Amino acid sequence: MTQAWTWSYEGYDPEKERLREALCTLGNGYFATRGAATETPVGPSHYPGTYAAGCYNRLTSTVAGRQVENEDMVNLPNWLPLRYRMCPADAEPGPWLSPDHPQLVEYRQSLDLRGATLTRRAVYADPAGRRLDVEQRRLVHMGDPHLAALHTSFTPEGWSGAVEVESGIDGDVRNTGVVRYADLANLHLTAWDTGAEPDDRDDRQDRDDRDDRDDTVWLRCRTSESEIGVALAARTVAAPAPPEAPRTRLTDRGAYQVLTLPVGPGAGVVVEKTVALYTSRDPAIGSPVRAALGAVRRAPDFTGLLASHHRAWEHLWRQARLEVPGEPGRILRLHLFHVLQTLSPHTAELDVGVPARGLHGEAYRGHVFWDELFVLPFLNLHFPEVSRALIGYRHRRLPAACEAAREAGRSGAMYPWQSAGDGREETQELHLNPHSGRWLPDNSRLQHHVGSAVAYNVWQYCQASGDTEFLHTKGAETLLQIARFWASRAEWDGSLGRYRIRGVVGPDEYHDAYPDAETPGLDDNAYTNVTAAWVLARAGELHRALPDTCRGWVCDQIQLAPEEVERWDDIAHRLHVPYHRGVISQFAGYGELAELDWEGYRKRYGDIRRLDRILEAEGDTPNRYQASKQADVLMLGYLFSPAELAGVFRQLGHVLDDDVWRTTVDHYLARTSHGSTLSALVHAWVLARVRRDDAWAYCEEALIGDVADIQGGTTEEGIHLGAMAGTLDFVQRGLTGLETRDDALWLSPATLPQLSKFGVRIRYRHHWDVDLSLRAQSLRIAVPDGSEGARGGPGAAGGAPKGTRDAGSRGGRRGGARDAGADDVRDAVRVVLDGRSFTIAPGTARRLDLPDT
Ligand code: BGC
Repeated sequence: MTQAWTWSYEGYDPEKERLREALCTLGNGYFATRGAATETPVGPSHYPGTYAAGCYNRLTSTVAGRQVENEDMVNLPNWLPLRYRMCPADAEPGPWLSPDHPQLVEYRQSLDLRGATLTRRAVYADPAGRRLDVEQRRLVHMGDPHLAALHTSFTPEGWSGAVEVESGIDGDVRNTGVVRYADLANLHLTAWDTGAEPDDRDDRQDRDDRDDRDDTVWLRCRTSESEIGVALAARTVAAPAPPEAPRTRLTDRGAYQVLTLPVGPGAGVVVEKTVALYTSRDPAIGSPVRAALGAVRRAPDFTGLLASHHRAWEHLWRQARLEVPGEPGRILRLHLFHVLQTLSPHTAELDVGVPARGLHGEAYRGHVFWDELFVLPFLNLHFPEVSRALIGYRHRRLPAACEAAREAGRSGAMYPWQSAGDGREETQELHLNPHSGRWLPDNSRLQHHVGSAVAYNVWQYCQASGDTEFLHTKGAETLLQIARFWASRAEWDGSLGRYRIRGVVGPDEYHDAYPDAETPGLDDNAYTNVTAAWVLARAGELHRALPDTCRGWVCDQIQLAPEEVERWDDIAHRLHVPYHRGVISQFAGYGELAELDWEGYRKRYGDIRRLDRILEAEGDTPNRYQASKQADVLMLGYLFSPAELAGVFRQLGHVLDDDVWRTTVDHYLARTSHGSTLSALVHAWVLARVRRDDAWAYCEEALIGDVADIQGGTTEEGIHLGAMAGTLDFVQRGLTGLETRDDALWLSPATLPQLSKFGVRIRYRHHWDVDLSLRAQSLRIAVPDGSEGARGGPGAAGGAPKGTRDAGSRGGRRGGARDAGADDVRDAVRVVLDGRSFTIAPGTARRLDLPDT
């Protein structure tokens, strides 16, 4: 295991344990389990959460005298429990051991990213000097998404007797992972039932000695409101097999086995626990419990499971190859690991969205926000089928979004700011400010810009994948309904001669109302309006381009009249974008807000990322100041390339030249507290093209966001998936300027000195392994041979694409662009580098010189 693929923690630090659990989570897109110790239940330093993607439940709580409903991603029964103690032959049994026990003398946790296993090593010593060395390896299987396993070896030193092991499933769990939610109802499971079964596999070699042993315990229950049936089965076996049959301990909410395993000097013992998890949402099963029992029975031993798990991961690493040297590369690999554990090819089979905090903790209740905007552009170029499924999650909730629009007196689709099970608005009504202890109204549901994110992803996915079947059917339906919502939201203002969208909240959640206003919402949020104009223009374009049959079907389906589309075109050209002093205003009136004493606040509070909480606790509000939580106007520079953004502004009748954009960037750069991990990422992205020297600091902050937990203790409640995926995409698209449009790869590199050498492999349409490598001011693009590409999907061997040879000429600005003459080659990839066009034939590579920067 090389350092580049390892994430290790030396020593036990109870203060940091919850953070490590989040970062050591193992998952496979279907479910994930935090990297918690197996020896101890929930406690101040431990939170062993297990979450299945899309498994939500709704509860009602009383807060601040009000009844509030919240839907949460449910913490499922804990399959980890495996505790042990030394039972020396010449003394009484020792205490149950755990990292918290004073007998702990050594501890190490180590995540192997390549092989996707977590290894924990603990050494204990009792007062008489008896030592027990315990090494435990864990996997959550990437090949069979229902399986997980623990392999624990016990090595005694200086004593003999037995190790007693208790292994089982604990169903007595609640959602208590986030301290801020402590006042809310948290018991989501009900109707527990437990049992034990003999291992009746025919192929057991030790069959004769072990007849009728209950090797497998199971637990089933269901969620209280959504009525999702959940079942887990766990088979625990030891080698060498113990002389005595394991004792089964069943409680009303737990199922355990206790094994007494003889050990002596040089004679250790190994315990394997194999677990299966099913829910009633799974297809092709009779019942979850039957499916779980069948799966553990069929599962091979740990070595067999490990081999197939590794093979599944090898394919993932191959499809998402990202090579960046040094520490940034190591962190990016960890980010990629967690993105793939949350959203894997298994996700393509599920009805789930992008959970903002991964499947790694309970913050934001496992809800789906606009964060997919930072995730899908990355996935589009590696696992387009996963992107398609994630957009499918939105399409299936189109009726709910249309219903929400209707209820709000609008038409089209109003997607919820927070989405979970059925697509209704899940944003909490009240949120707690831990600084003041006050529950406050949460107006973030006014972030209707989430609809533009959905539309953007539909468009980007289709551009990258060439999936016209989706674009012309479900994609069109979704995009047109979102456009329709924006059209119904836009009001004509005769005095301005412009359309306006009023009463919204932009990505910067600090501003949710005008100072002293009685109702929440702001007018003309520039980000909202510009993205709405973009959506309306794309919708009109798509409507015109649809094949007649599809246009007829979609228009029928959503009852769309041609006049509506004409109006969209008008609005797309005349939405209002406010300015103040040569700067694009975040919203109308922003320029009149007071300036905050940034230095004063920094001096007083140090970390002012959550300025909103600080000000509220002081009896003030960010609504009075030109102070933003995160990139808002600047998000436009993240979504659109400079040329495309200038184009949207031109469409709206404005000139967006470099000066205006730079002045705008500088203005917000000085007035943003970066209270969201997304903010540093967006700033790095934008600054890489505007203020290169300043970009690295933001890039570094985005990189360490979770590993150093810089948002003050939030990572232990779940990783920040948008920022993690965003950093990968920062290399893939941000630094290369990669766009997929008009059937070509458009590139416009803007590298940073600290990230000037990297390689990424993308899947572009039916080419599986297009390699882009950037080094020493040149960009090499290799397109695999057509047949290689076709064979190069899952199941193909790893490594660089075979059969690519460098085409002789050097293209690019200095190299005197000369095409390899591949225009006529079928399946060639068209590349446009800084405005110059090339085609790269399958089986060839080109090295293109970049201008000096
Ligand atoms: C950010 C949002 C984001 C959400 C979930 C919030 O802190 O302000 O932009 O969608 O976290 O990640």
